[in-house]
Amino acid sequence: MTSHPHTSRVSSPATARPRLSRRGAVEPFHVMEILKAAGRRQVTHGDVIPLCVGQPSTPAPRAVREAAIRAIEGEVLGYSDALGLLALREAIADHCATAYGVAVDPGRVAVTTGSSGAFTAVFLAAFEVGDVVLMARPGYPAYRNTLGALGARVVELDCGEATGFQPTVEMLEEYAREHGAPAGLVLASPANPTGSLVPAESLAAMTRWCAEHGTLLVSDEIYHGITFDEPAHSALEFGGDAVVVGSFSKYYSMTGWRVGWAVLPEAYVRPVELLLGNLNICAPVVGQAAAVAAFSPEAVTELDSHVERYARNRDLLVRRLPEWGVEHLAPVDGAFYAYLDVAHLTRDSQAWCEALLDATGVALTPGIDFAPADPARPRPTDGTRFVRLSFAGDTDTLAEGLDRLVAHVRSTA
Ligand SMILES: Cc1ncc(COP(=O)(O)O)c(C=O)c1O
Repeated sequence: MTSHPHTSRVSSPATARPRLSRRGAVEPFHVMEILKAAGRRQVTHGDVIPLCVGQPSTPAPRAVREAAIRAIEGEVLGYSDALGLLALREAIADHCATAYGVAVDPGRVAVTTGSSGAFTAVFLAAFEVGDVVLMARPGYPAYRNTLGALGARVVELDCGEATGFQPTVEMLEEYAREHGAPAGLVLASPANPTGSLVPAESLAAMTRWCAEHGTLLVSDEIYHGITFDEPAHSALEFGGDAVVVGSFSKYYSMTGWRVGWAVLPEAYVRPVELLLGNLNICAPVVGQAAAVAAFSPEAVTELDSHVERYARNRDLLVRRLPEWGVEHLAPVDGAFYAYLDVAHLTRDSQAWCEALLDATGVALTPGIDFAPADPARPRPTDGTRFVRLSFAGDTDTLAEGLDRLVAHVRSTA
């Protein structure tokens, strides 16, 4: 073997430090600590009930799996266009027409690597370093972390019981009166961690407000399809120039397939295409080819049966909340989460979740992942007094988890 003539002479200077950017120093997911501990406990006790997971417990619909097999057997599966396979972009546009009665040109649909890929590309296309982007607190941490890593300035709007844990147009007005209109607003309905919906009139008002103030509304609609009492509305229904983000991860039960989408205002199509081509080249093509089948009637029947189970789980959970003294919670309108105020039990949700896991094997997510607390500036929305419970699993397991949880709360009261 020959070595490069200079190899032996290259050595790092003693002072060399890894080059790390401050923008890259994102907040950890605190639930990872719980997951790690749950993993350890599963090895030693084998009794973990993971009510902390943010994903369906079911595989992709059969029709999708069969389409994936056909694609693997019969297609080359090279790169697709940066904006995705035309057949899938058309299927997503058709879905928008069916679900919301809105005609969408498939040319405005970008297929992405999960909705996560859409957020990165859209944030990059829309926001300059230093731009202010508003989001709900509590809210999905990756918005805050991704926007922060890209240099945007995230302002969290305190959202509590009074507004169903969702922002309102009054909050936007109040922010703008003091600071001017923000560059962006990220909304999620149903939301993570709360599962609450933005009511139709409120979504219409915020969509209008954003259009009038030059604020880009990024509407995260990835939990659409999983609602219990009334359907979710799309920002597409209210005109304006919102970016609407969807995903095959949640309702479609395909988290690991990494396929999502964005419906883009015309002006964003080309910049997002260029960004996606550079960031990812394209979304995974096996998943794209298979995802077309996710809209088939057989798949929808299968997926709706999951939603029926989530609804049963939701009812069971809500019925049993008094047993552990929970009186305050976000409206459990959709998704598969309940965001519960446990201030009567703890003001340190992380320690409480760790103790619960230790005593019972039940894993919950501490609220601090969604609303980090600053001890110097306590806020009623601080996640230290909230936990998120996911009821995406099967009903018997949830019931067993609740039995253990209630027994633990009673024994430590
Ligand atoms: C509100 C919300 N948005 C986006 C995502 C990202 O999902 P994916 O990239 O799988 O589409 C998640 C995942 O949990 C989420 O909860």
